[in-house]
Amino acid sequence: MIKIESVTKRFPSITALDGVSLEIREKEFFGLLGPNGAGKSTLMNLLTGYLEPTAGSISIGGEFVNRNNLEVRKKIGFVPQSLALYDELSARENLEMFGKLFGLPKKLLRERIDERLKAVELFERRKDKVKTFSGGMKRRLNMIASLLHDPVLLLCDEPTVGVDPQSRNAIFDFLTALNEQGTTIIYTTHYMEEAEKLCNRVGIIDHGKIIALGTSDELMEMLPYEETIVIAKNPSTLQHKATFEEFGTLLEEDDHFELKPGNGFLLSKLFARVEEQGMRYQWIELHRPTLEALFLHLTGRRLRD
Ligand SMILES: Nc1ncnc2c1ncn2[C@@H]1O[C@H](COP(=O)(O)OP(=O)(O)OP(=O)(O)O)[C@@H](O)[C@H]1O
Ligand SMILES: [Mg+2]
Repeated sequence: MIKIESVTKRFPSITALDGVSLEIREKEFFGLLGPNGAGKSTLMNLLTGYLEPTAGSISIGGEFVNRNNLEVRKKIGFVPQSLALYDELSARENLEMFGKLFGLPKKLLRERIDERLKAVELFERRKDKVKTFSGGMKRRLNMIASLLHDPVLLLCDEPTVGVDPQSRNAIFDFLTALNEQGTTIIYTTHYMEEAEKLCNRVGIIDHGKIIALGTSDELMEMLPYEETIVIAKNPSTLQHKATFEEFGTLLEEDDHFELKPGNGFLLSKLFARVEEQGMRYQWIELHRPTLEALFLHLTGRRLRD
C-alpha cells in the first residue's frame, strides 16, 4: 500500500534520511523504532507531503505523495510529535476547528467529535479549555484531532512521550481498536516496549538508514543469543562483577545487571560458577532479549541515552 523507494532527505547540514526503501502493507501496524535524531519525524513529514524528498519517491495506494496532491493527503491522518492544539479553546472547539478544515458536514462532525471524545475518555472534559489539561490529556486530544476525517492511514509520531501510564494505555487501546477496524498505522517511538507490544512489524532506523526490519520474533533471531540473563544488584553480585563478565558483556542498569551471553555460553557453567562463589541462584533470571538488546548489538549504542 505504501511504497517508499530509495528516499533520501538532505538538510543543509545533515542527511536525515539516506536511501530508505520500505513497503508497508494495508492494515499493518508498523513501528518505526530509533533513537533521537534517527530520521523518524523526517520520514513522517515526507509521508504527509509536508516535506519533499531530495531523491526517491513515496506512493500511497499507487498515488505519488507531494505537496499538491490533495487527494492522497486526504487519506492520511497525522499525529505530530509537537502538540497542535489551541490552549484558549475547549476540547470540543479544537475538534470543531479541525473538522472544518477537513470539510466535514456539521451533523456528522458533531457525532464524530462526541464519539471520539468518549473513546479517549475526554468527553466529561469537552467544555474545558485545553490549557487546563494534563500532558496526557492533550496527547489524547491531539490524537483524535487528526482522525476526524477517518483516514485510511494514520501516522503517529511519538504519541506517548511524557504521558502518564493511564493516558498511555488509553492511547494504546484506541490505536489497537482503530487498527482492528482496518486503519493502517505507522507509529514511531524510541520505546522498544511499545514497538514490541503494538506493532505487527518493526523497522529499526538509525542515522537515516533502516538497519533491521521484521516481526519482533524475526528481529530477535538476528541476535547471536536466545536469552538475556538478568542479575539482581546487591553487595554480593556487585562484588562478583568479574565472574559474570567471564560469560559475556555485562551492562549495569539502575537496579540490576544484564548479561548478554558471549560465544559458546552455557547456562550450566554460569550456575556452577555462581555456586562456587557462594552466590544465590534466586538473584538470576532468564529473560527474552528485547529490541533494545538488538539495537545495542547492531550499533554498539543504546536506544535511549
Ligand atoms: N527542518 C530541518 N532542518 C534541518 N535539519 C533538520 C530538520 N528536521 C530535522 N533535521 C535534522 O535531521 C535529523 C533527523 O531528525 P528527525 O527529527 O527526523 O529525527 P527523529 O528520529 O524524529 O528524532 P526524535 O526522536 O528526537 O524526534 C536530525 O539531525 C535533525 O537535527
Ligand atoms: Mg521525531
